[in-house]
Amino acid sequence: MRIELKNVSFSYNSVKAVDKVSLEIDSGKTLCLVGPNGSGKTTLLKLVASLIRPKEGVIYLDGKDLKTFDINEIAKMLSYSDPHLPRTLPARVIDFILTSRYPFHKAFQYFESKDDLELVDFLSRELKISHLLDRRLDQLSSGELQRVVIAAALAKKPKVLLLDEPSAFLDIRYRFEVMDIVKKYVAKYGATSIVALHDINIASLYCDTVALLNKGKIVACGPPSDVFSSKVVEEVYGVKVEIIQVGSYYVAFPLPNYRDRQHT
Ligand SMILES: Nc1ncnc2c1ncn2[C@@H]1O[C@H](COP(=O)(O)OP(=O)(O)OP(=O)(O)O)[C@@H](O)[C@H]1O
Ligand SMILES: [Mg+2]
Repeated sequence: MRIELKNVSFSYNSVKAVDKVSLEIDSGKTLCLVGPNGSGKTTLLKLVASLIRPKEGVIYLDGKDLKTFDINEIAKMLSYSDPHLPRTLPARVIDFILTSRYPFHKAFQYFESKDDLELVDFLSRELKISHLLDRRLDQLSSGELQRVVIAAALAKKPKVLLLDEPSAFLDIRYRFEVMDIVKKYVAKYGATSIVALHDINIASLYCDTVALLNKGKIVACGPPSDVFSSKVVEEVYGVKVEIIQVGSYYVAFPLPNYRDRQHT
């Protein structure tokens, strides 16, 4: 599903969180949002998730204005993972994941189907959370909870997958495994994914396009190789960095006290 944003702006009262953002993402592609704290990544995801409406501009899904979609259609085609939401819920992991299947239930269907359970079983094995299914969400570690949240997002088999910092809290192995799963999912189902990330290393490996936000505006957008230069990163984050390229992988080393250096 092709996603297009045209001059989209959003303010929380006096705070302009997203400022005239235009973006295009084709089916089967992953766009990565990077940028400092408070730069508007989560707000942009919430706009595409239809949780908030643009004050200006239009969001199109396959050429159709997002605000003309029925809420049930949106519930079926779009997953948005909020890593903070389920932290305090005293619900079981399996029940939380199964809530993603509710939009597909028939009227008066009170129980999950065999297919729903098979899907949860498959995703739990992929994300290595099978042993956690009977545990409560508020009794999981942050990394375990993060994997559960991603399983719930995928359980909908969404056409649009919106992930807010999916690699946060994950150890080095799961950071890669989870993004591998997301990438495979997007390719297999021709879904479109927008992922907010702080980790530019992961962004350079897994995203087709990177959009770098600062103060609600896109300051650079393109393939990771175009966006991740030390000049751009320094301007936006206000720290000196050395960008090292290993194949298609970019690593940013902050150099807090380093002054005289040639930049890439
Ligand atoms: N519910 C809200 N009410 C008022 N202001 C908000 C609200 N949510 C976010 N903001 C403000 O909007 C701006 C963008 O916030 P947003 O959460 O989109 O940033 P972000 O890039 O996701 O940051 P982070 O990397 O810290 O998650 C910030 O200035 C933030 O303080
Ligand atoms: Mg955020």
